[in-house]
Amino acid sequence: MNGKNDTDEPADKDRRNFFKFLGVAAIAAGGIGALRGVLENVSPPITAAFSSFPTLLLYSQSGKPISTDDLTVNNATIVLFDYPLQNEPNFLLRLGDSNNVDMAIEPTTVKIPATGKTFKSPGGVGLHNSVVASSAICQHLGCIPPIIHFYPPSSPSYPGKIHCNCHGSTYDPYSGFSVVNGPTTHPLPNTVLSYDSAKDQYSVTSLVGPTIYGHSSDLSGGSQLPSSTYTEITTLTPTS
Ligand code: FES
Repeated sequence: MNGKNDTDEPADKDRRNFFKFLGVAAIAAGGIGALRGVLENVSPPITAAFSSFPTLLLYSQSGKPISTDDLTVNNATIVLFDYPLQNEPNFLLRLGDSNNVDMAIEPTTVKIPATGKTFKSPGGVGLHNSVVASSAICQHLGCIPPIIHFYPPSSPSYPGKIHCNCHGSTYDPYSGFSVVNGPTTHPLPNTVLSYDSAKDQYSVTSLVGPTIYGHSSDLSGGSQLPSSTYTEITTLTPTS
């Protein structure tokens, strides 16, 4: 029950490796947010089965729905929200060109190298169709932010890419979070957003593409979020 068409689910062995690796990743990161995620992840999961993806408003930490002005184009700070369950971080990116001008991100077809299957990436939403989101859990062995993060187009190392410092997997958020370099053989699951232009508010509605790393289904196997109406934005500083 993925709620998605992709049938290439991680093996149980990979799942065990994922949780083992979360511990290593958090210690390496030294980040309070990452450590918090690990402590919660190693607790026995409460199985929460959804029949469908929940639609949740994206909220700021000040308790208000975020608007376009709350998001920085090509932000080097990592902006995250949990979805669809707790401790499942997603990147929230407002993408721009090398001059930090919003870039409209077109829907595109993304290939999953491991299976040869494809899925439709939804493209950008928002005032400039430049806001996109994806799972922030690396599809190789499950590293989480801040070890994996977005490098702005001005970055000398991985311009305009999401790079995982664990083993080098690289993804292209301008092209459906597709695989640029392995060892990953799966793109990042694309998180589907919607935009209310009248209110200038953003919601998350579902995921498409591969299943979130370490899960046999996106909709079960973890704890439900505290609210059924919104999910809150958090930020982290990249490790490099
Ligand atoms: S976990 Fe290996 S590259 Fe990300």
